[in-house]
Amino acid sequence: MSLRLGDKAPNFTAQTSQGEINLYDYLGDGWGVLFSHPADYTPVCTTELGRTAALKDEFAKRNTKVLALSVDSVESHKGWINDINETQNVEVDFPIVADEDRKIAEEWDMIHPNASVSATVRSLFIIGPDKTIKLIITYPASTGRNFQEVLRVLDSLQLTAYHSVSTPADWKDGEDVVVSTAIKSEDIPAKFPKGYTEVKPYLRLTPQPNK
Ligand code: BEZ
Repeated sequence: MSLRLGDKAPNFTAQTSQGEINLYDYLGDGWGVLFSHPADYTPVCTTELGRTAALKDEFAKRNTKVLALSVDSVESHKGWINDINETQNVEVDFPIVADEDRKIAEEWDMIHPNASVSATVRSLFIIGPDKTIKLIITYPASTGRNFQEVLRVLDSLQLTAYHSVSTPADWKDGEDVVVSTAIKSEDIPAKFPKGYTEVKPYLRLTPQPNK
């Protein structure tokens, strides 16, 4: 199945490195990041999972739970986690799904047959508290993901969800944001007391509301 932004995230119950997990129960009312990696005991994946573990506090600050997935077994995941902890100087404490029958990978469109008939590509999904898909990024196996970008998109999505703003190109935390076009200019002062700049009637900038 091909998944698109706004689609309901397909729920699943699966064996993981931390026992059986139901996706929706695991995420609760918060945000989620589900990402697939091509295979255990591979170099780029080792650095990616290490980086994710190192960013534990950053994901927690954003009320976001993380889980990884590959088509390897629970035993393989557990052995590999020891290597990740040792070599990346971290404690992997998020679950890695063991999708040995590739059911989840197929449903989530993580296997791209022209890239590999059996392994998952580097797919990454951000799932909102409403369990819809907010972001899909696909990287090739040879390129490790940019997890700062994942955090940046989470920040942007949460600003949109909680403050009616969007974020301009190359926006970084702390920079001005864009007032939603749904808000009339006369309503801006009450909603955005830090003020705003009207570049064009459709492009109004305001300081980041939650800073
Ligand atoms: C890696 O993680 O290094 C990797 C995995 C599959 C294919 C290529 C690279």
